[in-house]
Amino acid sequence: MDNEKILFDNGTHKCVMFSFDDESHEDAFLSVNQYLIVQNGHGILIDPGSSAVFDELYEAVSRHVEVENIKFIFLSHQDPDVSGAIAQWSISTLAKFIMSGLWTRFMSHYGFMSMDRVLPLGDHGAKLKFGQDSLWFVPAHFLHSPGNFSLYDSCSKIIFSGDIGAAILNTPEYYKIVENFEEHKKHLYGFHKRYMGSNKLCRAWVGHVEKLAVDMIAPQHGFIFEKEKVKEFLAWFKELQCGSDYIQELY
Ligand SMILES: [Fe+2]
Ligand SMILES: [Fe+2]
Repeated sequence: MDNEKILFDNGTHKCVMFSFDDESHEDAFLSVNQYLIVQNGHGILIDPGSSAVFDELYEAVSRHVEVENIKFIFLSHQDPDVSGAIAQWSISTLAKFIMSGLWTRFMSHYGFMSMDRVLPLGDHGAKLKFGQDSLWFVPAHFLHSPGNFSLYDSCSKIIFSGDIGAAILNTPEYYKIVENFEEHKKHLYGFHKRYMGSNKLCRAWVGHVEKLAVDMIAPQHGFIFEKEKVKEFLAWFKELQCGSDYIQELY
């Protein structure tokens, strides 16, 4: 499949990246990445997106895991490109939904009413046992949402970073790995300058992430960072001036 890529596979634990777009509205649509972790037949789906991609994603996901064995669906934050199809996923799966407790009630506006299926995260996040490994919900507040988390998978050493590291690219060049960070920075800067809260918040997130062994950063838009590019991105993000650092330009 040219719109999916296996990011990690050791035989029992697999991480898959999907990039489904609304092809009928290409000009208006923001390209998105969706992710799936499968271990021994059990799955966790990450930032599945809106109804525009639901059918294709459902079909793609079901090639890797029995849909009834999707145990968790993680929503990094409340945005429509992350959570818009929560009602459809709640009907089609038995999964529990993991998200910031700040956003639980807002999900009813996406038609989702099954609050008993939500595992709300407190601000400090959580560690969840998943098979033989752990999933860490790492605080990423105000980067850009007030209640925001990244997901670190201790087996693959991938951090699924939501909008952190997102690149807004005109042409949907799927499944690309960042080859030249200096070159890629121009696709990161505008988005991060406006959508991220402040440099203080960037530093807080980097401080957490630097304590983890991270082989790959997988954002919700744009390209994957691996190996040296992880370090280059973290160094760039740590120094980034953004959000309220530019308050004089906004008011
Ligand atoms: Fe967002
Ligand atoms: Fe997003």
